[in-house]
Amino acid sequence: MMRMDAEAALESSRETGRDAERATDPGFLWDFWYPAARSSELSGQRLVKALLLEVPLVLGRTAEGKAFAIRDACPHRGMPLSYGRLDGETLECRYHGWRFDACSGQCVEIPSLTSQDKLKVDRIFAGHYPCEEHDGYIWVYMNAPGTRPPERVPEAPALKLFSEKYRITHLSCELPSHIDHGIIGLMDPAHGPFVHQSWFWRKRASIHEKAKQFEPIPNGFRMSPHSPSANSAPYQLLKKITGEPVTTMIDFVLPNLRTEIDQSGKLWFSSRATVTPVRRDLCRIDFVAAWNLPLPVFLFRPFAKTFLRQDQQTMIQQAEGLKHNPRLMLIDDADRQAKWYFALKANLLESRRTGAPMVHPMDGPVTLRWRS
Ligand code: FES
Ligand SMILES: [Fe+2]
Repeated sequence: MMRMDAEAALESSRETGRDAERATDPGFLWDFWYPAARSSELSGQRLVKALLLEVPLVLGRTAEGKAFAIRDACPHRGMPLSYGRLDGETLECRYHGWRFDACSGQCVEIPSLTSQDKLKVDRIFAGHYPCEEHDGYIWVYMNAPGTRPPERVPEAPALKLFSEKYRITHLSCELPSHIDHGIIGLMDPAHGPFVHQSWFWRKRASIHEKAKQFEPIPNGFRMSPHSPSANSAPYQLLKKITGEPVTTMIDFVLPNLRTEIDQSGKLWFSSRATVTPVRRDLCRIDFVAAWNLPLPVFLFRPFAKTFLRQDQQTMIQQAEGLKHNPRLMLIDDADRQAKWYFALKANLLESRRTGAPMVHPMDGPVTLRWRS
C-alpha cells in the first residue's frame, strides 16, 4: 500500500513536472518557414503586423518590391516598428527616429548622436527574419529566439503546379487551438462523415471501411497514390470529364504542411493546407488550391469555405472541452497519423538536441484501416 502511494506520488509529481514544462514550452517547431501574410496585403509603404509563434513581426515591401520581416520591437526602447514609417529602403522608429535597413535590420541612423559620440550605429540590429514570397504568401523563416538564421536557409515551400495556365485561390481561418490539435484535426480521417456532411460531398450513411497505404518520406509521411473514395462527388465528376482514372496523393511534412495532388489525364488539382501557430492557444489554417480543371474559382470557393467553416466550428467547440485538460486518447488505426505526427516532432527535436540523424517513426510502408 505504502509503495503504491509512493509510486502514485512520484507519478503525480512527474505529471506536475510535465504540466509545468508544457505550460512554459509552447511546443512550437522553430527553424522552419511559416506563412505570415498574404502577398496582396503588402502594397506601397504599408506596414503590416503579424504574430507567428508568439513573435510579433512587422512586414512590408521595399521600393523594389522585396518583402521583409522584422521583429516588431525597436531595439532601443521596444516601440513597435509597425508604428514607424517606411521610406522604401529603411524603417524609421516613431519614438526617437532610429532608422533600420528594412532587409537586414541593420541600424543606419540614430538622429540624437552628435559628432562626439563613439557609438557604432551599424553594430545595432533590429531582429530580422529571412523572408520569401511564394504562391501568394509572405513566408518567414522563424529561427529560434536567441539564434541567428543559418547561413544557407532552405527554400520556402512552393505549391506544385502541372501546367502553365491554372486557376488559384486562397482561404484562411483561425482556430482557437494549440498547433498540435490544429494539425491532428487536419489529418484526421474519422471526422469526415460527422463534420463534413453535405449534399455535394457525402452523407453520414456513406461511411464505409477504407484501407490506405502510407509510406515514410523525409520529415513526414505520404498516403501513397491511390484512387480516391468512390463516394465523393467531385472525384466522380473529374473521372467523368476525362474518362481516365483519378489518382490522389496526400503528404504531410513537418512542421505543418499537408499537400494533396489529384490527377486525371491532363487535368490536375493541387492544394496545400498549413496550420501555423500564432500563439500557443491560437493557430491559423492557410489553404491554397490551384487547378486546370474547367472549374471556375467562384464555384469552388463556397465549397472550400464550407469545409473550412465546418472544421473551424468543430475546433471552437473542442476548445471548450480542452480548457479543462481532459485526458485524451489516440486510437489505431484512425489516429495513427496523429501518432506519427507526434513521433516525428519528438524525434526531430531529439535529433536537433543530440546532433544525431533523425529517426523516422515508420520503418516502411504500412496499410491503415478505418471506417469513414
Ligand atoms: S524606441 Fe525606437 S528609436 Fe527609441
Ligand atoms: Fe475536416
